[in-house]
Amino acid sequence: MGKEIIWMLIISIYSVKTSATIPTTTEGASFNNSTDWIEDYSDVESKFSLRTAQVPDEDLCYLVPGQPRTIAECEFKPDAQTFVIIHGWTVTGMYESWLPKLVTALFEREPSANVVVVDWLGRAQQHYPTSAADTRLVGRDVAKFIDWIEAELDYPWEKFHLLGYSLGAHVAGVAGLLSKNKIYRITGLDPAGPGFEHADAQTTLFGIQRPVGHVDIYPNGGDAQPGCDFRSTLLMIAKSGIYNMDQLLKCSHERSVHLFIDSLVNAERQSLAFRCSSKEAFNRGLCLSCRGNRCTKLGYDAHPCAPPRSLTMYLRTREAMPYKVFHYQVKVHLFCQEEVTLRDQPLKVSLYGTLGDKEDIRIILPIMQSNSTMSFLVTSDVAVGDLLRVELQWEKDYVYKFWERSSNTEFRVRRLRIKAGETQARVIFVPRDGEFAALSRGAGYFTFIRSTEDEEGRKQERLHRLRRTGSLFRQSGAA
Ligand SMILES: *[C@@H]1O[C@H](CO)[C@@H](O)[C@H](O)[C@H]1NC(C)=O
Ligand SMILES: *[C@@H]1O[C@H](CO)[C@@H](O)[C@H](O)[C@H]1NC(C)=O
Ligand SMILES: *[C@@H]1O[C@H](CO)[C@@H](O)[C@H](O)[C@H]1NC(C)=O
Repeated sequence: MGKEIIWMLIISIYSVKTSATIPTTTEGASFNNSTDWIEDYSDVESKFSLRTAQVPDEDLCYLVPGQPRTIAECEFKPDAQTFVIIHGWTVTGMYESWLPKLVTALFEREPSANVVVVDWLGRAQQHYPTSAADTRLVGRDVAKFIDWIEAELDYPWEKFHLLGYSLGAHVAGVAGLLSKNKIYRITGLDPAGPGFEHADAQTTLFGIQRPVGHVDIYPNGGDAQPGCDFRSTLLMIAKSGIYNMDQLLKCSHERSVHLFIDSLVNAERQSLAFRCSSKEAFNRGLCLSCRGNRCTKLGYDAHPCAPPRSLTMYLRTREAMPYKVFHYQVKVHLFCQEEVTLRDQPLKVSLYGTLGDKEDIRIILPIMQSNSTMSFLVTSDVAVGDLLRVELQWEKDYVYKFWERSSNTEFRVRRLRIKAGETQARVIFVPRDGEFAALSRGAGYFTFIRSTEDEEGRKQERLHRLRRTGSLFRQSGAA
């Protein structure tokens, strides 16, 4: 029974958020819970290519379910873990360029592993609805393959890690449901891939039966990924020509694969993702907590333990590898005599720390209001270390808004409270000059320095606790 609890941890990285419905009509693939079919290999159409670190981009040897000699011929390593890569829908009928990159990255991280590429190119180049329906047949092929390896070599089921991109993620989900011992881990890379804009991936993808562990990660909110926007696209076309259009359109979709590759090859620069109820809350910096498994590394090193239910997690990234950025929540209370509400105000923030500086981070504040506290997210691709100094500037509005008084509104700021997502450190900053910083539009930078208030606060809290519980928990030598 214990085993049932941890079967199938699905971690999906959605670099494009979609809401649509995967066709559920399938022919000849209704599930039969009898397991007799599983040992009949005659109908297995998919091919299982065992790749090597030396030749990561070619199919040199196939493991054929039902033919044990191929295990020896291909030099499958019975003691090593096995990655099974499952590609998605393809227009060209060929593997996409990310695939050999992922193979190489897996070998780089786990040199002794077996890396198997599932070739279902024939079924994957049909009309999309046909290919989508066929994922059930391919999933069954993969389940048979896995069961065969496990039976043939007495191979432990925990050593399989399935990685599926777009429709390949559906294949992995089906394989997980049909294989005898289930699958220890499935990584879904953009389960809603190109052309899937009509499917509610999240609810129907693995909806046949909800896996126990289900983590959905949305880099940059699942919108167009940085480096994939219209302007970057035009720049790339200018540089590499229009024939690369196909690649450019896939930029955002494929980002999930490259984020995963990044997690393999840049192990020392791991991106963190944070549990959050919505993109809006994340953008306000409200979700940078790591308590109780609320944050996880993105990709290969994600928590191997299954969460109690499905989780949604967010993070920001850079536009290119390594993708890691550092997340900060900035909280600031705006004092003002008059009643003022301003929308979409541009701010600039500069961070200065023990390891480096990051200047002129631009932010648009959705709302600035008198006597209210604002919270916003600031990210830095530079590792600044412990923050020492912060500068804040309220920029001139780009657009003249006639309904908002062009007054010389002045918000007074007494302190900035900053929480670092990556270190969980909370620091309070106070104006360097005077009690308040008088923030006004178009004025220069205001400098805030680290306050000792935080240390004081903690000391007070400790004393308070000691006074309350001292008689019960008094320790010798405690100050
Ligand atoms: C198959 O599933 C059905 C419905 O869940 C169940 O009633 C039946 O006993 C199962 N058959 C076998 C052989 O497990
Ligand atoms: C399930 O599979 C078994 C073995 O192949 C077959 O005898 C049986 O008729 C199938 N049942 C259904 C409902 O398809
Ligand atoms: C904001 O708070 C200050 C001090 O508490 C008060 O003097 C001021 O009138 C308040 N402003 C508004 C618009 O309520």
